[in-house]
Amino acid sequence: MNTPKKSLDITTAKSSRLDQVDFDNLVFGKYYADHMMICDYKDGAWQTPQIMPYGPMEIEPSSKVFHYGQAVFEGMKAFKDDQDKVWLFRPEENFERINISSKRMAIPEFPKDYFFNSLETLLDLDQEWVKKGEGNSLYIRPFAIGTEYGVSASPSNEYKFIIICCPAKAYYSTPVKVLISDHYSRSADGGVGFAKAAGNYGASFYPTNLAKEKGYQQVIWTDASTHEYLEEAGTMNVFFRIGDKLITAPTSDRILDGITRKSIIDLAKHEGIDVEVRKIKVSEIVEAAKNGTLKEIFGTGTAATIAQISGFEQDGTFYDLPEVENAYNVKLKKKLQDIQANKAEDPFNWRYAV
Ligand code: COI
Repeated sequence: MNTPKKSLDITTAKSSRLDQVDFDNLVFGKYYADHMMICDYKDGAWQTPQIMPYGPMEIEPSSKVFHYGQAVFEGMKAFKDDQDKVWLFRPEENFERINISSKRMAIPEFPKDYFFNSLETLLDLDQEWVKKGEGNSLYIRPFAIGTEYGVSASPSNEYKFIIICCPAKAYYSTPVKVLISDHYSRSADGGVGFAKAAGNYGASFYPTNLAKEKGYQQVIWTDASTHEYLEEAGTMNVFFRIGDKLITAPTSDRILDGITRKSIIDLAKHEGIDVEVRKIKVSEIVEAAKNGTLKEIFGTGTAATIAQISGFEQDGTFYDLPEVENAYNVKLKKKLQDIQANKAEDPFNWRYAV
């Protein structure tokens, strides 16, 4: 282990729970690494981050987070290369985004050195939890919650910033079928759609359950005012390939500025693929599915990486999308994973050595 970083209090676990994990049958989010970080905000300042064994914590039942959902989170991943070195993927982006989300949710910004010192220390202590090999990663979940006691509807004066980690493989183990939403909305102009606010996800569970009852794993959300334009899926941004062109919706205050999304845009351009970032109508996709020019749909996200979408329902009709040869989603996923696990050159400087 490297020398412990300054400005952290570290209590290590007495023993590891690593042997309790069935790495061959990993269920996303089921097992947590031995250590976590908790940093309290009180008296107007973030206190010294505490690294401690993963486990339950005490929070007042009247805490704001339980009543008003004052909570934001991030999803990021660490990878291990063939020489056992651990790498993070674009962690600066996650750091910036959690503070953008926090600002929107009236949560104080978290200091950069606390964020990076905590991540590096956790990954040092729990490096055995990062498995190598294709598709393996340690999923890292930083989050911030309002913990002040009292149910008055106002921003909390106390917070906890917490980082927990869980070993992960593919979030979706098979291609995903989706339902295009023409009624429920994920977000609206002026809302919090761009932020990784916990409530964005909680609010999507009911419509997603309805879609699941019909055999779909996810919903693709359309714009709240007209339902004419495709926006994003519940856990992913979405890309459409029409002919040889790759199209994705522009980010806005309704759509999450996905880190995998922007990496795929850059990677695709680097591979010579024609990428269009523009508004995309539901009717355009339906028409392309009917005339055979819609070749692929796929989702991108930290947890999902790249998930092939094998068909969609719109207005009661199901459109099947059989796998194509030389699929962009397969090629781009491999390129991305090779960069993440230090198996390929990193022309974009995305890897961060831990
Ligand atoms: C991620 O991809 O990290 C996400 O935040 C999606 C999550 C809701 C599983």
